[in-house]
Amino acid sequence: MTSPRPRISKAVIPAAGLGTRFLPATKATPKEMLPVVDRPAIQYVVEEATAAGLTDVLMITGRNKRPLEDHFDRNYELEEALNRKGDDERLSRVRESNDLATMHYVRQGDPRGLGHAVLCAAPHVGDQPFAVLLGDDLIDPRDPLLSLMTEVQQAYGGSVVALMEVAPEQIHLYGCAAVEPVDRDGVRRVTGLVEKPAAADAPSNYAIIGRYVLDPGVFEVLRKTPPGRGGEIQLTDALQAMALDPSLGGPVHGVIFSGRRYDTGDKGDYLRAIVRLACERPDLGPDFRAWLRRYVGEEMPNLE
Ligand code: G1P
Repeated sequence: MTSPRPRISKAVIPAAGLGTRFLPATKATPKEMLPVVDRPAIQYVVEEATAAGLTDVLMITGRNKRPLEDHFDRNYELEEALNRKGDDERLSRVRESNDLATMHYVRQGDPRGLGHAVLCAAPHVGDQPFAVLLGDDLIDPRDPLLSLMTEVQQAYGGSVVALMEVAPEQIHLYGCAAVEPVDRDGVRRVTGLVEKPAAADAPSNYAIIGRYVLDPGVFEVLRKTPPGRGGEIQLTDALQAMALDPSLGGPVHGVIFSGRRYDTGDKGDYLRAIVRLACERPDLGPDFRAWLRRYVGEEMPNLE
């Protein structure tokens, strides 16, 4: 009998990026702190990790990222002020990010790409499989993905990526996977990966979205991975080596996601995420939807 695979309890969230697409908003504020309705984008990501049963979160940060640490810590002054006023509702909102998970932080120092950011997690992660969640990708909490990925990792071993079908003209924005079927619906064996190919060179229209469950063998592979696209150490290149030689931390499987995902690193998608989530919120939705209907019906036509 084979021994059960180790349970996955650690999540790594790379958050050292400069957020240049949102300047000037991100000049003095980390992009991860930009609000999506009334919570910073990063809170959704940490909540997603904890909803999938991950209790230990390591953020890979950099300079100017202190607000991230503060957000997941207590704020005694604010709590005390709200307590004095008896404002329990706001008090609970302040506290909701305090105890989500055991939080750890490490600085990337010299940002040399996503693969390098993940490598910074090696001493913390050790020799267990772990999850990686990219902060720019927001997965709607009603469409769980990560728990399915950890389950697939437990079943097949190796590493698991999240795949989403995109239009051919979008594939150059993503890592792209060549796949073949396996005996389970919604899961594919990944046979090759290429980072941000031109549409003509893409092996499929399956894009990697920012969720991974990785075998710790990835660290050794990353140490040997030379800079790739954009002169950066690419996680996709390490996964390609693992897909080709499963003894390095493969096999690599893909879980196909067709739920709601927002790229909060893109201004248009960021706005769409806010509008959609606000429309669907029980507290804000009714008023906001009524306004939006009026706006779309009466005011918007004058803009066209
Ligand atoms: C990164 C990865 C890419 C992946 C994407 C998902 O790229 O390198 O393979 O498809 O995240 O969001 P980035 O968007 O950070 O350039």
